[in-house]
Amino acid sequence: MRKKLLAANWKMYKTPDDCRAFVRDFLPLIANPGRDEIVLCPPYVDLHATLEAVKGSGLCVGAQNLHWEKEGAFTGEVSRVMLVALGVTHVIIGHSERRQYFAETDDTVNRKLESALEAGLAPIVCVGEVLEEREAGLTDDVLRRQCTRAFSGISAKKAEKLVVAYEPVWAIGTGKTATPQIAASAHLVIREEAVEAFGAEFADKLRILYGGSVKPDNVKSLMAEPEIDGGLVGGASLDPKSWSAIVNY
Ligand code: PGA
Repeated sequence: MRKKLLAANWKMYKTPDDCRAFVRDFLPLIANPGRDEIVLCPPYVDLHATLEAVKGSGLCVGAQNLHWEKEGAFTGEVSRVMLVALGVTHVIIGHSERRQYFAETDDTVNRKLESALEAGLAPIVCVGEVLEEREAGLTDDVLRRQCTRAFSGISAKKAEKLVVAYEPVWAIGTGKTATPQIAASAHLVIREEAVEAFGAEFADKLRILYGGSVKPDNVKSLMAEPEIDGGLVGGASLDPKSWSAIVNY
């Protein structure tokens, strides 16, 4: 059995005070602490406050991005060394909004993945097709390409902490959710790519999350699907009540 992972992607929302208040309100609402891995991913400037707030709770804190270099003249960027020094344990890589608005490519995803693994961070690598690709029947090809390139040159030993999130772009922030069956068939393609890259034993243990309009009212059926090992949640993770309804699925 793969332990489920539920990650809140807060995108460009919340100040440090908002994060503290969120954690204070959210912690008492968790029904089964320790059952699943729960990760909060606030903006960089909120990481410290969130880490302080979750201390001793078993909750994890992740970043939403990182640069692939350890340090250097890269104005505005943040490296794995800085994240690890803060106590961050997870990092989202290649989110579709970064691919769409910030020129993230399969190649930069690969470099960032390598960097995160190097530092012992658990990377959550996002893949997923846009609507036109789905309608053209290209979903599997897109997922295969994104995975092959992301995993390129990385050994199974090094990739131990890898997590993949299947996030169909047409489902992000739109209120349209993939059915558990649509997600499961995409997850199988991703798992096949993981077999290719890292071997069957690794692929069997790899956690593949679903993301895209996960809400309190659809989370149960998604989590009941054996191929879905958790969720990456945007909008519905911003409010402690709605996020607790999700983690208590
Ligand atoms: P959403 O976002 O839950 O608001 O659709 C998911 C994501 O972008 O990770």
